[in-house]
Amino acid sequence: MKIMLVGEAWGVEEEKEGKPFVGTSGFILNGMLRIVGINRSETYITNVFNLRPRPSNDIINLCGGKADAIPGLPALTKGKYVRREFGREITRLFDEIKREDPNVIVAFGATAAWALLRTSGIRAIRGSVAGTHSDVSAKLGRTYKVVPTYHPAAVAREWTLRPIVINDLDKAKRKSASPEVKRPERSIWIEPTLADLQLYEDEYVKPASSLSVDIETKGDQITCIGFAPSPESAIVIPFYAEGYPGNNYWSDSQSELTAWNYVRRWCQKPSVFQNGLYDIHFLWRRYGISVPNAIDDTMLMHHAFQPEMEKGLGFLASIYTDEQSWKFMRKTDTIKKEN
Ligand code: URA
Repeated sequence: MKIMLVGEAWGVEEEKEGKPFVGTSGFILNGMLRIVGINRSETYITNVFNLRPRPSNDIINLCGGKADAIPGLPALTKGKYVRREFGREITRLFDEIKREDPNVIVAFGATAAWALLRTSGIRAIRGSVAGTHSDVSAKLGRTYKVVPTYHPAAVAREWTLRPIVINDLDKAKRKSASPEVKRPERSIWIEPTLADLQLYEDEYVKPASSLSVDIETKGDQITCIGFAPSPESAIVIPFYAEGYPGNNYWSDSQSELTAWNYVRRWCQKPSVFQNGLYDIHFLWRRYGISVPNAIDDTMLMHHAFQPEMEKGLGFLASIYTDEQSWKFMRKTDTIKKEN
């Protein structure tokens, strides 16, 4: 099977039939699969727990304190650990994954994300293309591609989540063509010298028809500014840098001034921002840097297309790109400058 769908646990109907997603959640799931063009019979559907949590259907019924936890597994939610006696279900899930060897796994809800990615907080990671957590990959024999999304039961409670899950299922369908986790390739220059800025201006900025620009701020200061002339290349110019003398990235005021002059020059080019009203105003008000050629705004464009959806950069990335969630990047990646 190319696509595997992993839910949380059985409800009443599922327990009766001994099959996953045959009750209300299954009905909602079927409707979404139909829209995306995924044939349910061509997927493999299972749960983290092939049992109904008792006495109520709530997964918390399977949890206890840290002393009862399955060794090595994090809390499912704050202070609640899945009890050791249910560890066999995780083993069974992993056996199913190994046997079916899918190209992509859709993790429905926080419990499936916990089992495969060892993380909680589905909102921050949904829609991303993640790899199974390294401990999980070790048990499975390879890294599997996982697309986490909201659980169909959450869609039943909050219908506005439905187009988001449909988007995520569509991404999973596209990703099911191959088993490898392929990331967009790009080079990002960080911690540049003044010579790097000149080189970047000559090689990348001058030939570009437009630049994507984003500022980061702390209080009334800009901490760094990113410029991207293309999807493959970007540069970050830092200013505020903790650990540097006076928290200034640049060692003397002349160097800092020169760096600002690059910013000033590059901001004259046609530019694209995310919620640029904030950035452009900040640049002008705090630094006297004008941005006369802002031609597009990702947040406003998205809002025009999908006015009912979230507008944050993380959400946009989950919808429009193949990036990993920022949450995983920060935790797992050490950024190093090469060359
Ligand atoms: N919810 C799940 O997570 N799985 C099912 O099989 C049914 C409802």
